[in-house]
Amino acid sequence: MVVSLIVAVSSNGVIGRDGGLPWRLSNDLKHFKKLTMGHHLIIGRRTWDEVGKPLPGRTMVVVTRSRRFASEGVRVAHSLEEALDLARDDDEPFIGGGAHIYRMALEKILVDRLYITRVHAEVDGDTFFPDIKFDAWKLVSEEHHEADERNQHSFSFLVYERKR
Ligand SMILES: NC(=O)c1ccc[n+]([C@@H]2O[C@H](COP(=O)([O-])OP(=O)(O)OC[C@H]3O[C@@H](n4cnc5c(N)ncnc54)[C@H](OP(=O)(O)O)[C@@H]3O)[C@@H](O)[C@H]2O)c1
Repeated sequence: MVVSLIVAVSSNGVIGRDGGLPWRLSNDLKHFKKLTMGHHLIIGRRTWDEVGKPLPGRTMVVVTRSRRFASEGVRVAHSLEEALDLARDDDEPFIGGGAHIYRMALEKILVDRLYITRVHAEVDGDTFFPDIKFDAWKLVSEEHHEADERNQHSFSFLVYERKR
């Protein structure tokens, strides 16, 4: 199993504002869909509140401390380890945020691969991606895209793998 983390992050580290995404990037949503399709998508309860419904073709796993949380069409885990155990038959489960879940996954060294959409803009926000020590990671792919009418900012799709 390869555990992947997927995130879009601005030049100043922002990933969210007011519970949602602080940009409109149609190609990034398509990229996210293509990568995660058919896989487990592990997200925190607050990100779940924003997503609001199970994403088609993905097995959604919501991480919460609440023992009462339940929602149709999603699986529930009370730790990241439990979430990954639910995904044990998946060759590439995805950790899809938000900040609390990313931080926990990186601190516990549970992630093997990073799919980072680097949004080339300084953006106002209230939720930030944790600092990453990039010397522990090898950049294996990079693809640049310009802004256009459907993509508010220019951005790059970056893929990193943990150095062994
Ligand atoms: N740019 C991106 O790629 C991206 C991706 C995802 C999300 N986001 C943004 O990130 C923001 C949300 O992030 P967030 O950090 O506020 O919330 P979050 O990480 O989505 O969810 C936090 C919740 O996870 C649960 N949790 C945290 N630690 C836990 C633990 N140790 N054990 C069990 N459950 C635990 C708790 O749920 P309970 O309170 O229910 O116990 C906590 O409230 C939104 O703005 C969203 O749009 C951005």
